[in-house]
Amino acid sequence: MALTAKEIVDLYRRRAERYDLTANLYYLIGFREQAYRKRAIDSLGLQPGDTVVEIGCGTGLNFKLLQRAVGPTGRVIGVDMTDAMLAEAKERVRRKGWANVELVRTDAAAYVFPDQVNGVLSTFALTLVPEFDDVIRRGVVVLAPGGRFVILDFKMPDRAPMWLVRFAVLTMQPFGVTLDLANRHPWESLGIYAEGFAMQELYWGFSYLAIGSM
Ligand SMILES: C[S@@+](CC[C@H](N)C(=O)[O-])C[C@H]1O[C@@H](n2cnc3c(N)ncnc32)[C@H](O)[C@@H]1O
Repeated sequence: MALTAKEIVDLYRRRAERYDLTANLYYLIGFREQAYRKRAIDSLGLQPGDTVVEIGCGTGLNFKLLQRAVGPTGRVIGVDMTDAMLAEAKERVRRKGWANVELVRTDAAAYVFPDQVNGVLSTFALTLVPEFDDVIRRGVVVLAPGGRFVILDFKMPDRAPMWLVRFAVLTMQPFGVTLDLANRHPWESLGIYAEGFAMQELYWGFSYLAIGSM
């Protein structure tokens, strides 16, 4: 059964301090996390001065690349519901001296997007949000002309045998992934709401990059 919002917060409170380290452990099984993050952020097509919202930003592992893309005159808004993850993000922002990163603590389901954003990003987070369809719909609506909504996340490969699916879920269980999340398909929502849509599978179909544009 999928975790409740409270269970997700409790889990990420426990993981926050060592999140960056443990997320990197996927390199051991050949998951090129940083390269995929870079591809996702490049896909946003951001320009200096732009505003970008990251849903489920966690400790801010994408902030360096986002910050570089929008420059000092741009704006990065990180949204997450786990206080401890945001505390790590806040510390990262303080350490780097970034003056244009705002952090918002809320459930993505309740987040009110600002108008006319140039990009919305979510990496390894939207599948955890039961209301992902509504979040995507609302995020697409506020995109400025030429804006993009980019999702990088895990999924199950088509026609994967059940033993492989169970094994994959086991490896992602420490981050709140349960078997029933395989039925959540955020990329389909993006395909419905965005005017332009492209998707590429990564890591033998266990991950994907989906790009919706207006
Ligand atoms: C696996 S982490 C990913 C963090 C970051 N995006 C990254 O790529 O490293 C998932 C994050 O999503 C957040 N999250 C999960 N469900 C959420 C929700 N409904 N609203 C806001 N944040 C949520 C968790 O608190 C956690 O920080």
